[in-house]
Order: sequence, then C-alpha cells, then structure tokens
Amino acid sequence: MIVLKSREEIALIRKASRIVAEVLDEVAAMVRPGVTTDELDRAAEKLTLQKGAKPAFKGYRPHDVVYPKSLCVSINNEIVHGIPSARKLKPGDIVGLDFGVVYQGFYGDAARTLPVGEVSERARRLMRVTREALYAGIEQARLGNRIGDIGRAVQQVAERAGYSVVQEFAGHGIGRRLHEDPQVPNYFRSGMPNPRLQEGMTLAIEPMVNEGTAELEILDDGWTAVTADGKLSAHFEHSIVITANGPEILSEL
Ligand code: MF3
Ligand code: CO
Repeated sequence: MIVLKSREEIALIRKASRIVAEVLDEVAAMVRPGVTTDELDRAAEKLTLQKGAKPAFKGYRPHDVVYPKSLCVSINNEIVHGIPSARKLKPGDIVGLDFGVVYQGFYGDAARTLPVGEVSERARRLMRVTREALYAGIEQARLGNRIGDIGRAVQQVAERAGYSVVQEFAGHGIGRRLHEDPQVPNYFRSGMPNPRLQEGMTLAIEPMVNEGTAELEILDDGWTAVTADGKLSAHFEHSIVITANGPEILSEL
C-alpha cells in the first residue's frame, strides 16, 4: 500500500532528509587517503545524535543478518551496503556513502559516490553518469507519469553511456518506515507493477550503475554487494516528494 503524506508529514521527512544531507556533507569532507571507513561511520553517528536524530540503518534487519553500523561505505567494486571497518581509503578509490536517519518518527535516506584523491577518468565518468541517471529519474517524478517512467529514464542514461543498472536493489517509498511501497526499480519492463505517481508520494530514488555486468554477489558478511566481474560501481540517492509543481528534492541543502 502506498501512503500519501500530508503537509505536516512531508515537513518531517524534509527535516530528516536535510539532516542526512548535512551529515553526508560533513562525512564527505573527511574522505581522503588514510581515513578508515569506521571513522566515517562514527562521525556520521555522532553528528546525527547531535542533531536530535537517530541513524536509520544500525540494527536494521530486513533479512537474517542485522546491519551493524550507521553508514554504508561501498568502495570501488562494492555496489551497496559495504560495512564500515578498519579498512583505509586509498588514493584512486571511489567511495559510496549511503546514509539514513529517523527524526521524530520519519525517515530520510540519501547516497553519493566520491573520489578519494585523484581518480581515473574512467571512474569520474561512471560517477558523473550515475549522478545524471539519478537526476534524469527525479525529473520524471511528476504527476501524469508512473513509477516505471523513473526507471526508464535512469536505465536509458546508464545504458546509453555503456553501463548497466543493478536490478536486485531498487529505490523505495519512504516515510514512517525506511522502506515503504512502492518499489522504485532502476529499469522498466512491461508487465511490472507500475503505479501512477501522485501528489504527496515520498520516494527514495537510488540508481546503482555498474561499469561492466549488472550481476552481483553478496559477500560472506551477509550485506556487501559486489560486482560479479570486479569492475567499478557507483550509487547516488535522493529522497524526494512529488508535488503539484513537480519533484522536490528533500535530501539536498
Ligand atoms: N539506501 C539503502 C536502502 O535504502 C540503504 C539501506 S542500508 C540498510 O536500501 F542497512 F538499512 F539496509
Ligand atoms: Co534507500
């Protein structure tokens, strides 16, 4: 069931999403060679608590393995859900930071992928195209369209650049829960569920784009998704609300 949000509910999702954006800005500023992914996680958690919110991912248990940290940090061939550890970032890495909070009962969720020091032109192009795919999807999030229009736009930008979109993970509704209906796939296929977009729908749109194959594997930690061919992957995500005037991005300052 898709829950449409009232003005008051949207204000709280906006606030939660704003906190996510502020924390991601601060954590992004710490990204440099030598920093450990645990240091990024601890900073994200501390800043969130200072802002009166709580990390949304820590303790989350959609399947049998609880997510143990506040932040997801996915490096190079890692697609999503990388678990912070003592691993140090290296020059030339690309690092995906995915973060969510809950504030007064409402969730916000966003992600971005950044370079660590100087990175290859190949890596920069993948990040740029993935961000463009996200914005192309957001642009379709308007009245008169359907969920599938978002995924079609995302997929078109990624595939025209020679990349593939991950299909195992999708964007999602967001609100009183981190993951609500509808699912927001990053592709379109006829016959898939394709609800109409309506005013007051709040969505997290989150393309994961791979340089090579779309196929993935999950590591033994039960979370980290990696590309099956070991090539790079990038991830960008915003929480948005659909208004009469089009999409409003909530997780952008
Ligand atoms: N942005 C991701 C998602 O919406 C992050 C989830 S991490 C988890 O699925 F730990 F909460 F699963
Ligand atoms: Co999400």
